[in-house]
Amino acid sequence: MTSDHTQIQTFCIGALTGLTLSYVYNQIKASKKSRPSSSPSSSSNSSSKSSSGASVCAAYARPNILTLQPYRCARDDYETGLLLDANENTLGPSLSSPDTQELERYPSPYQIPLKQKLSKIRNVKPENIFVGVGSDEAIDMLYRIFCIPSVSNVITTPPTYGMYKVSAVTNDVQIKPVPLSPSYDLRVPEMLEAVDENTRIIWICSPGNPTSKCVKSSDVRKIASSFSGIVVLDEAYIDFAESGSLCHLLETYPNIVVLQTLSKAFGLAGIRCGFAISSKEIIELMNRVKAPYNLNKLSSAVALDALNNYSTLQKNIKLLIKERERVKSSLESRPYVVRVQQSDSNFLLFELKRNAKLIYQVMADEYSVVTRYRGAEVHCGECVRVTVGKEEENEEFLKALDGAWERVEGEKSL
Ligand SMILES: Cc1ncc(COP(=O)(O)O)c(C=O)c1O
Repeated sequence: MTSDHTQIQTFCIGALTGLTLSYVYNQIKASKKSRPSSSPSSSSNSSSKSSSGASVCAAYARPNILTLQPYRCARDDYETGLLLDANENTLGPSLSSPDTQELERYPSPYQIPLKQKLSKIRNVKPENIFVGVGSDEAIDMLYRIFCIPSVSNVITTPPTYGMYKVSAVTNDVQIKPVPLSPSYDLRVPEMLEAVDENTRIIWICSPGNPTSKCVKSSDVRKIASSFSGIVVLDEAYIDFAESGSLCHLLETYPNIVVLQTLSKAFGLAGIRCGFAISSKEIIELMNRVKAPYNLNKLSSAVALDALNNYSTLQKNIKLLIKERERVKSSLESRPYVVRVQQSDSNFLLFELKRNAKLIYQVMADEYSVVTRYRGAEVHCGECVRVTVGKEEENEEFLKALDGAWERVEGEKSL
């Protein structure tokens, strides 16, 4: 890091957090100590426990992001009165029925009611929450904030969610894959060995997609205390997992970013609403970088409604988990199914004796039942992933699977 860079970071983090410059300077010194070196063994000995969100940002955020002046509008200062500041069309929207939501007006850039509600549910403070257009927005944003194109690298643990790679390539960031063990556990020593001085983010998916399995909290602790860069814990499916969210780790590890979404258990993939939960300084950087009005008014209203309707969510989760276990047993009773992965999620990953790709295609083409072939992923040979749906949908899937298996086997024996 150049001394210019350090000065810029000192200035920006001071402005960011309201901390005194001398305090920030000490934080930066502390973060330098805990920064991974090029030697893997020393990197795995470094600790982030003594660091703060400010020092994590100072050491790992891109310099241009630290100096970024966020977009400001008149409404940051004045929210009421005759609002003629934002070139909206005050005649109102051109809709077939009257609008009741003042859609001619931009939405709130801050989404305060939504953050307040989520903060109660997840037991975190509103200032620790970023609201995004799905968690996919947060994934891309973390690259843009913390990774320097063509310099930085990130660690992923395949088989895992594909967007970590898509966003890495988009942002010209190198991926260092450290595959999970065959039983889909994190290989912590190997992950820490892979860290070098340019490693900025470690991506962990829990419950995993496509593994459907939660990672051990002790493993996340080891990683977050040994690597002082950003540790992302993608909890898109966490509401289906008995073990619950690891959001509480944020109190100890300011470098953890938890991602959650309304797309899965809340059944709201169509509104595109996701969250990042982290130390307030990391969230502050995300808020600076985001487009000012990223979440639209319609999505925001629906999201708030869903968060206020927690009992329906819990009822639906119970139903889906019951169905998941029923479908799992049913799959296990089939002689051509080799194994069904125990699931902490709303989908099942299962291995067929052979021809998984063909069977996936026949199910879609002949039975109009669309699942996901995962056999090309590491440790997923001959595997198909299926989302657990309503009882009748699951029955249709099981019938299609039997039909496709018989069809493929029959054709092969001809
Ligand atoms: C592990 C994981 N993370 C994130 C996402 C994206 O979620 P969102 O709809 O909030 O963008 C998905 C979507 O399938 C996912 O499987």
